[in-house]
Amino acid sequence: MNAIHPTVQVRQLSKNYGSVQALKNVDLSIAAGEYFVLLGPSGGGKTTLLRTIGGFHKPSSGQVWLNGQEVSHLPPDKRPTAMVFQAYALFPHMSVLGNVGYGLSLAKLPKAEVRDKSIAMLEMVGLKGYEDRRPHELSGGQQQRVQLARALVLDRNILLLDEPLAALDAQLRKDMCLELKHLQEKVGITFIHVTHNQEEAMTVADRIALIANGELVEQGAARDIYRTPERRFTASFVGENNLLSGTVASVEGDTVTVQVCGQPLSVDRRDLPVSTGATVALSIRSELVEMVPEDGSASSADGLSLAGTYTESVYLGLTLSHRVALSDGTQIVSRVVGESDAPPPVAGSAARVRWKPGALRLHIN
Ligand SMILES: Nc1ncnc2c1ncn2[C@@H]1O[C@H](COP(=O)(O)OP(=O)(O)O)[C@@H](O)[C@H]1O
Ligand SMILES: [Mg+2]
Repeated sequence: MNAIHPTVQVRQLSKNYGSVQALKNVDLSIAAGEYFVLLGPSGGGKTTLLRTIGGFHKPSSGQVWLNGQEVSHLPPDKRPTAMVFQAYALFPHMSVLGNVGYGLSLAKLPKAEVRDKSIAMLEMVGLKGYEDRRPHELSGGQQQRVQLARALVLDRNILLLDEPLAALDAQLRKDMCLELKHLQEKVGITFIHVTHNQEEAMTVADRIALIANGELVEQGAARDIYRTPERRFTASFVGENNLLSGTVASVEGDTVTVQVCGQPLSVDRRDLPVSTGATVALSIRSELVEMVPEDGSASSADGLSLAGTYTESVYLGLTLSHRVALSDGTQIVSRVVGESDAPPPVAGSAARVRWKPGALRLHIN
């Protein structure tokens, strides 16, 4: 990874479809050889961003730079990009080899060279020996690999993938995810991968950018986005976060006291500009929350717990989720791995959720 020479630079990019603002002043920089994921909810603008990088859309304003050159108005075939389409976009009447070599044939490369390159690429994606099959004689995962080979054989240094695994079933998607990651490590070029699936994003990405409402909300390594989300939206979209709304009661040094349902919570200020009386958001991941029956010994004095009413537990095999309702109806989820020996509290009984210092996060937007 080379952070000094970005392969992809998007500058103040906006894209409108009539009155729909699909992208709003997006700035993005991707290093050579990075596996970069655009993650976000449906309709957020991911596909528009990817296709504008690939040259399938013209920006309404702003620029796209690839390999140090401005390409904003160049067509796809004049850019150093290749696009992986969905598995069903293979030519059904052509052999696997024909499909893979199609782009090179169009570019009028000598037949023998097309053949050699296509065979080498099929081997790279694990499909050696499948050259003469037709797409319908392949599984969904194999068809997707042919798509990959077809894009990679073009020898561009940026590969664009729009929901490449969306058509696959859950287990295959998991396997293919890791394969994609390993393939990218092998070929060493820049991958830009669009998905709405958080687990997929975390599996493959060196870095993730969250895209929603046409904006780049936040970007960073999977671990950072998951553990230390800056924005409220990031906390709501990544992981299983409990989100709370409260009012700032006091700010003392680095510690902010926030009132939630009449109870004081302590949270680190993180250099955020907060003032007394402001409404703020708080987030805490469910696996950092512990649920305990209220036996009268606990207190809210340390600002690290909330009292509420136990409602129910949901057993999910690997994990068990306890739910506690606050007085305003907000449900707090505490997720624990494995089974619990203690019987759950009776629904409607008093319970407390608590956590360690540093687990709760403050957001102002
Ligand atoms: N060709 C188009 N014409 C009009 N609106 C479009 C077109 N393509 C996308 N949009 C709109 O632009 C927004 C972003 O869409 P898109 O980039 O496809 O999001 P995502 O890939 O994140 O689901 C959505 O509101 C969508 O309805
Ligand atoms: Mg899309």
